[in-house]
Formats: sequence, C-alpha cells, structure tokens
Amino acid sequence: MSVHKDVKKVTTHVLQEMKNRGEKISMLTGYDFSMAKIIDASGIDVILVGDSASNVMAGHETTLPITLDQMIYHAASVVRAVERALVVVDMPFGSYQGNSKEALSNAIRIMKETGGHSVKMEGGEEIIESIKRILTAGIPVMGHLGLTPQSIYKFGTYVVRAKEEDEAKQLINDAKLLEEAGCFAIVLEKIPAQLAELVAKSVSIPIIGIGAGNGVDGQVLVVHDMLGINNEFSPRFLRKYNNLYEQMFSSFQEYITDVKSGDFPNKNEQY
Ligand code: KIV
Repeated sequence: MSVHKDVKKVTTHVLQEMKNRGEKISMLTGYDFSMAKIIDASGIDVILVGDSASNVMAGHETTLPITLDQMIYHAASVVRAVERALVVVDMPFGSYQGNSKEALSNAIRIMKETGGHSVKMEGGEEIIESIKRILTAGIPVMGHLGLTPQSIYKFGTYVVRAKEEDEAKQLINDAKLLEEAGCFAIVLEKIPAQLAELVAKSVSIPIIGIGAGNGVDGQVLVVHDMLGINNEFSPRFLRKYNNLYEQMFSSFQEYITDVKSGDFPNKNEQY
C-alpha cells in the first residue's frame, strides 16, 4: 500500500505517485555528510540542501549571502551520503533572478558538480523564464511560493504571507503557472492552512508545506530546528522532536570537567 516502503530510490515520479495515492511526503533539510547519512538512513523521502545553510551553518541573519560555490560544497557533501532520498538543491539568491541564460548555467553547475537530482527556486511569474529554460535542459525544478526568504527585504518581516485576497489569488495563479511550466513539486511556506489546502487541490503536482497546515501533500522542516539544536527559534509551526541543544551543551560541559579534573583519558583510553 505504501509507495514509500517499496522504493529503493526516490525520484520525482515516486513523489507524484505518492500524491496520487494520498501518501504524505516527508522532507528535511540537510547540509553536511554526517547528518545527511542519518537522515537518509531514517527513510526520509526528500533531502533539501536549503539555502537556510546561510543561517544555520554560517550564522548569517538571512539566506541572501550564501554563494553558489558554498551551496555546491554543501550539496556535494550531502549527495556523497545519500543512497535513497531525492536530493533537491536550492539555487541561491542572485543565481537565477534576472538572466535566464545565467540561471541555466548555474543550475547546470549544481547538477554537474554536486550530483544532486534537482533544484529549487523561489518565486512565480517573475522568474518563469528562468524556470522554463532550466526545465528545457532536463533539470527537475521544485518551486517555492508564499514566504520566500530570499525576498525578505521586500516583505520586511517573516510573518504569514497571503492573508489578503490579492496575494492569495496571485499565489494560486503562480502555483498553476509553475505546474504548467513543468515543475515537479512546490514548497509553500508560512501561508494560511486553508489556502495551502486549496492550492494542493488546485494543482496535480505535490505541494510540500512548512507552516502551511496539514491539507498539503507533505511537510518540510529545517533539521536543526526540529532537532532543537537552535534553542532561540520556536515559531508556532515548528514541532521539536528533540532538545539537542541541552544534550550537546551538557555533553560539552561533562567533557570539560573530565579534561580539567584529569579523569579523561583514563588507562583504557590511551595507548
Ligand atoms: O532553505 C530552506 O531551508 C528552505 C525550507 C524552509 C523550505 O527553503
């Protein structure tokens, strides 16, 4: 019954089949080899090498500073670890807006240099030329609508998007446009649950939500957030599956105590 269990390698076609059967899609971000190995072994369907690496790995306030070379470094590390999941790589800010020929050559660099399986791009109508050009090269594209963090300076805040009718209509139109262009899935970030459900019913491709309620075809979270590594970030939509901040903090403290007291290493821990 479950597509998930029978699949040795998740492809874009598998995700479509999951939507068709009503089986939810699981997706998490991943940025490095060691974490990606565990995430993949757990049976996740999709690993997103998100440009949120700019925040959680590099400590920037926004996703804007991360470069194409840095995204390629993270994505190649993840791909080396992954055996089963579909790997989606975020195209960073500035690598696809404006010039569709440049967008295509940047997407080709991502595919060639990382071994990733697809790219993700933020926006609708305004970037459709770049999306279409990348798709013509046979590169699968995941869309991203709603709160698109690369446009944070246009929005001004990280509050819920598309609460007003005009923006909601534009979002539905954009989702249909992305489907028509040939995107294989769309991420909807931080929009009202009712609107997200409507979008998921209005298009046939999978809709993956983050802060978009339960009426969509799958969910994505930033792995550091769901593990509770970052104890300063607790938005309403986030479910924390662990409190790794506390666990790591106390492990580091114990280690310091053991080193300072001379307890570590003991006779069995030396040559
Ligand atoms: O970069 C990222 O982590 C993302 C998710 C929030 C969907 O785009």
